[in-house]
Amino acid sequence: MKYSSLKDKKITVVCGWISREREVSLRSGKKIYEALLRKGYNAILVDPKEDGWEPVLKGDVVFIALHGKPGEDGTVQGFLETFNIPYTGSGVLASSLAMDKVASKKIFIASRIPTPRYLSLEDFRSIEEFILKSLEQIGLPLVVKPVSEGSSIGVSIVKDEKDLDGVVRDTIDKFDNIFIEEYIEGREITVGVLDIDGKLTALPILELVPKNEFYDYTAKYTAGMTEFVIPARMNEEKYKLAQEIALRAHKVLGCVGFSRVDLVTDRDDNPYVLEVNTIPGMTDLSDLPAMAKAYGIEYEDLVEIMLYSALKDKK
Ligand SMILES: Nc1ncnc2c1ncn2[C@@H]1O[C@H](COP(=O)(O)OP(=O)(O)O)[C@@H](O)[C@H]1O
Ligand SMILES: [Mg+2]
Repeated sequence: MKYSSLKDKKITVVCGWISREREVSLRSGKKIYEALLRKGYNAILVDPKEDGWEPVLKGDVVFIALHGKPGEDGTVQGFLETFNIPYTGSGVLASSLAMDKVASKKIFIASRIPTPRYLSLEDFRSIEEFILKSLEQIGLPLVVKPVSEGSSIGVSIVKDEKDLDGVVRDTIDKFDNIFIEEYIEGREITVGVLDIDGKLTALPILELVPKNEFYDYTAKYTAGMTEFVIPARMNEEKYKLAQEIALRAHKVLGCVGFSRVDLVTDRDDNPYVLEVNTIPGMTDLSDLPAMAKAYGIEYEDLVEIMLYSALKDKK
């Protein structure tokens, strides 16, 4: 541990940069920065696209508010390790594992954490064979996804066999590496995981009821497009199970400090993990602040708890 208190340290909030989630990241970063100032920290806000990395290297501690690739995927974490600068959240390995949904799923399956059945394009010799096996082994409806994106970018639900070929080819053109997943029909939930004074805690579950067909980019970042229900309307036993599964998903990937685990549930409320977000959104509309609030943690306090994850050992 490099420091015990961060009150007199120079905290650099890094946001924006060059990922597809740049805009959301700028919003997260600004909110985090303002919260740190309100808490009396010596913080600066840096967008490496505009300001370069120089200001980051001059600070003492980095609060990483980058979403998506690159930034959430271990690259910036590795860069900061090189300079021995402490940073918030998960380390290099957990960040890159969590960013790769197929790598995460392999670990979930090995750890007996329920996750929807899937097929990965890279395991097939041709797109035709991938499509054929998807229909045979997974069936419709199914979900086509990029292996490493966020904010529902590139995610499509295919219900009609005639659409599958076009959707698969379009998604490959845009993202290269893709996979398909069994469509789970039920609720969409997300569980915030937060290390509070050394105790890994699952926050109250947030249920998302999108007004669109699913929780797409617009639904995620437009006020009023999604109904938030806290706590999720699940039976008590399955609610606890979902929280426990979220904690396990966080742990098996080796995450540190905080994460937000996205799940879907079937009609009987059985939870399946979709992904672990190692740098969850921190905007006004974001899920993690809403879950923390339901637990009794205000935004500023959440930011402060997240900040101190910079002092923890990383994998
Ligand atoms: N297997 C699935 N079954 C049902 N809905 C899904 C499934 N996979 C994804 N979705 C929908 O797509 C959204 C985005 O998928 P997710 O895997 O969480 O990727 P992202 O990283 O883009 O958030 C989910 O929040 C959910 O609404
Ligand atoms: Mg998600």
